[in-house]
Amino acid sequence: MQQIHLHDKSFYLYITENQIQSRLATVSQEINQHYEGKELLLVVVLKGAFMVAADLIRHLNMNPEVSFIRVSSYQSDLKSSGKVREMLGLKADVADRHVLIVEDIVDTGFTSTFLMDEIRSKSAASVNMFSLLFKPKNLKKGVAPDFVGFEIPPEFVVGYGLDYAEKGRELRGIYRLKDEEKEFE
Ligand code: IMP
Repeated sequence: MQQIHLHDKSFYLYITENQIQSRLATVSQEINQHYEGKELLLVVVLKGAFMVAADLIRHLNMNPEVSFIRVSSYQSDLKSSGKVREMLGLKADVADRHVLIVEDIVDTGFTSTFLMDEIRSKSAASVNMFSLLFKPKNLKKGVAPDFVGFEIPPEFVVGYGLDYAEKGRELRGIYRLKDEEKEFE
């Protein structure tokens, strides 16, 4: 079993490069069908989604435009989620546009729900979400992403854009924490 080490932790290969690429080829056909005849704006959530966005967009056939955003969050006792979020860097005008947000992972759903609400509030014609990974057991807010690469158990993963303390984004596959070092549940 292929293992890697990042900082103080060991991770083992969970989803291979081939599995990712083959799933992207399939799910992108669903996206192509959904947006047939429409103009699409991809809004890619940095940093984690940069890699999946680069691969996904090459399967899309409606000449999408691309924009990038970041989400900053800080702790607060005032919100049930424990965090207040802010969307940064959206340059594109989303009014009357069909928007597909591209995320790396949906965990509790607080970030994705916040982003969809923000972009809806700017009068987008439609707002949908693609997420490479989705942890359905952890979902506390909102709904499942409209397009999902892989549903995974509630375990911490890295690779293919996702990081552990800023390391591991370059990995071609997705790796999960060794069982005995599991931290997220
Ligand atoms: P949510 O708001 O709980 O859905 O969290 C979304 C964010 O949490 C993602 O954009 C990631 O930055 C981070 N995150 C959640 N699970 C993982 C994971 O397993 N690996 C790396 N980052 C994660």
